[in-house]
Amino acid sequence: MSKPLTIADLKTMARRRVPKMFFDYADSGAWTEGTYRANEDDFFKIKLRQRVLVDMTNRSLATTMVGQAAAMPVALAPTGMTGMQHADGEMLAAQAAEEFGVPFTLSTMSICSIEDVRSVTTKPFWFQLYVLKDRGFIERLIGRAKQAGCSALVVTADLQILGQRHKDIRNGLSAPPKWTLNSALQLATRPQWCLEMLRTKRRGFGNIVGHASNVSDLSSLGAWTAEQFDPRLSWDDIRWIKDLWGGKLIIKGILDEEDARAAADTGADAIIVSNHGGRQLDGAPSSISMLPKIVEAVGDRIEVHFDGGIRSGQDVLKAVALGAKGTYIGRPFLYGLGAMGKPGVTAALEIIRKEMDISMALCGKRDIQTCGHDIIADVKF
Ligand SMILES: Cc1cc2nc3c(=O)[nH]c(=O)nc-3n(C[C@H](O)[C@H](O)[C@H](O)COP(=O)(O)O)c2cc1C
Repeated sequence: MSKPLTIADLKTMARRRVPKMFFDYADSGAWTEGTYRANEDDFFKIKLRQRVLVDMTNRSLATTMVGQAAAMPVALAPTGMTGMQHADGEMLAAQAAEEFGVPFTLSTMSICSIEDVRSVTTKPFWFQLYVLKDRGFIERLIGRAKQAGCSALVVTADLQILGQRHKDIRNGLSAPPKWTLNSALQLATRPQWCLEMLRTKRRGFGNIVGHASNVSDLSSLGAWTAEQFDPRLSWDDIRWIKDLWGGKLIIKGILDEEDARAAADTGADAIIVSNHGGRQLDGAPSSISMLPKIVEAVGDRIEVHFDGGIRSGQDVLKAVALGAKGTYIGRPFLYGLGAMGKPGVTAALEIIRKEMDISMALCGKRDIQTCGHDIIADVKF
């Protein structure tokens, strides 16, 4: 394929380059994948107001998220096993984000460790926390994020129990891959990926291995989550984490107004309206359909961020117009990474930037800060 023009182009390229079990890991939702699809589909239902004959020069997409400058209202979402889309994936994606000027969020379940990412970046990145039963490990993990200079902690609230993704079970997903006939066939058809993976030593969960005790089965995500993640996690734990961390705190996975109010009560700096990219409660509404209600409920008390289903710069613009101060992309950057490594992540960001910029101009706006509900067309068919 020639130069990728859309996120869909990057997805096509990634599908050809990444072994099936890891491509499917990104391109999957829970159970029927209905919520996963709705996240994307509902964006198409929102129409933009076309405006003409207004000055469109000197446009700006610059903004802030939790007080930190961003070249556009887009951050890279925390995604587990990113180093399996491409060797050293988290390090490459963090560098691409830094060069572009947008936040990068490292997942607890990353392949490259906090220290690995720190070693190849010069500006602070963000760290996403999954709360495990072993609170001593959590204290140490937060300490490591502080030590690395991370400038925001993103606590994920919607994955204390893993939603079932059929593809992962059928593919026998694990990191590193277990040797079976099925996985051998998947790897044999992706020689470039294998070569790059052989050149790195980072093939397991870098934040966990050698740091957490009593971890008996790390390669199986399902078994490990069931064993280690704390299903008793509560709002009290969020307060404990907030005190321990002492910096900018973002609560991720809010899809309900009542939960949004409880999150605002904790004094956190932001929430992320999210259904985990349709990977957890299949049957939940799309993220974008819940955004206006949540902004209405808490928008004056806490910064509201958004993720789920963004596949273009227009989608970011729509989310901002509906009240999101910032957004996150998961799969779009993973497809870029799988397709082309670091330049692929830059390509994903550039595609989104360009689409957002042109769409904003054609809506008659020059500054993303001024894009509100007035750029949404009031049409129903
Ligand atoms: C492959 C994959 C792995 C993910 N891993 C994590 C994770 O480790 N922690 C987390 O908070 N969210 C995780 N998420 C959810 C993302 O942070 C984000 O909510 C979601 O990808 C947004 O939807 P999008 O992919 O449509 O942009 C993951 C998503 C994907 C696709």
